[in-house]
Amino acid sequence: MPRDVHFIIGASGQLGTEFALELHRSGERVVLADIKHPALDALRDLPFICLDVRDRDVVAAELKRQGATHVHHLAAALSARGEQEPQWAWDLNMRGLLNILEVAAEHRTIAQVFWPSSIAVFGPDNGPVAEQNGHRLPETVYGISKQAGEQWCAWFRKHHGVDTRSVRYPGLIGELCPPGGGTTDYAVEVFDHLHGTEPYPCFLREDTVLPMMHMQDAIGAMLQITSVEADRIRNEEAYNIQAMSFDPATLFAEIRRHVPGFRAEFQPDFRQAIADGWPDRLDDTAARQDWGWSPTVALPELVARMVSAKSPALEAEPDL
Ligand SMILES: NC(=O)c1ccc[n+]([C@@H]2O[C@H](COP(=O)([O-])OP(=O)(O)OC[C@H]3O[C@@H](n4cnc5c(N)ncnc54)[C@H](O)[C@@H]3O)[C@@H](O)[C@H]2O)c1
Repeated sequence: MPRDVHFIIGASGQLGTEFALELHRSGERVVLADIKHPALDALRDLPFICLDVRDRDVVAAELKRQGATHVHHLAAALSARGEQEPQWAWDLNMRGLLNILEVAAEHRTIAQVFWPSSIAVFGPDNGPVAEQNGHRLPETVYGISKQAGEQWCAWFRKHHGVDTRSVRYPGLIGELCPPGGGTTDYAVEVFDHLHGTEPYPCFLREDTVLPMMHMQDAIGAMLQITSVEADRIRNEEAYNIQAMSFDPATLFAEIRRHVPGFRAEFQPDFRQAIADGWPDRLDDTAARQDWGWSPTVALPELVARMVSAKSPALEAEPDL
């Protein structure tokens, strides 16, 4: 039987790097694609195609040439950069996704498309807990593109039988890669400022609660939702997934259990308004029921892992 070929677009980014590594380690056939080369040495020997996902002809030709069976489309403009460069963000997020969906509809060898949505589909009218089918009135370019993307996936599923899979990710935190310009980036960046002489300048207020997730669970969700039989996907759009919710003050207090001298100050900027429009947590009952979603990493473990990765000389055990 021919092997699956996993074609990862945006493979040099925060999520793509860790996902590619995980698939490669588990023996899957992986092809990487991005406009920039892979960041990790461990990925440098894998097939890599430098392409712009907005170029439909190139995307179609490469997917065909590589015999792609599974497309993981992770190239996107994130929330903060999207507000600063709206035309670019809309074009990348929409044209890129439509290219993939159209090619998947034409080439039946592509069995499945994974494309991540985000908590950004929810707007300030929603209240602190976002229900699966809660009201969506996003106020950012990124959020509007994710909401429209969800609907495009549902449309291609209905009219062209494209097997699309999607989750609404919260802020993702991992040891390997820097974040790509989102509103939750502080929760990754801060771990590069653990031992500085100056306090870490946090761009959100200390009481800004947002949903977050360790990269291990983000990859786990992706592997799980892409592995289940198609009839387990009962939701037309993307699934809410929840792991933990915290504000900067809570995260920094947990960091101080490992690094007592860590200091931060709060200098909210334009990203505060974006964060204020997002929910504190997501109701993920549908994902749990339909395909067995269940997170594994809680805040204490997340912080221990990040601190240990970013300060190898330090003892990972917290001061009790
Ligand atoms: N990181 C998070 O916290 C988070 C949260 C929710 C959803 N998501 C979603 O997950 C996906 C991956 O996010 P990420 O954090 O890895 O983003 P990232 O910015 O780290 O990576 C995106 C990658 O896409 C590549 N790219 C940009 N323009 C391209 C183009 N024209 N053609 C090909 N490649 C291009 C970039 O070079 C980069 O390597 C995105 O869809 C994002 O919206 C991420």
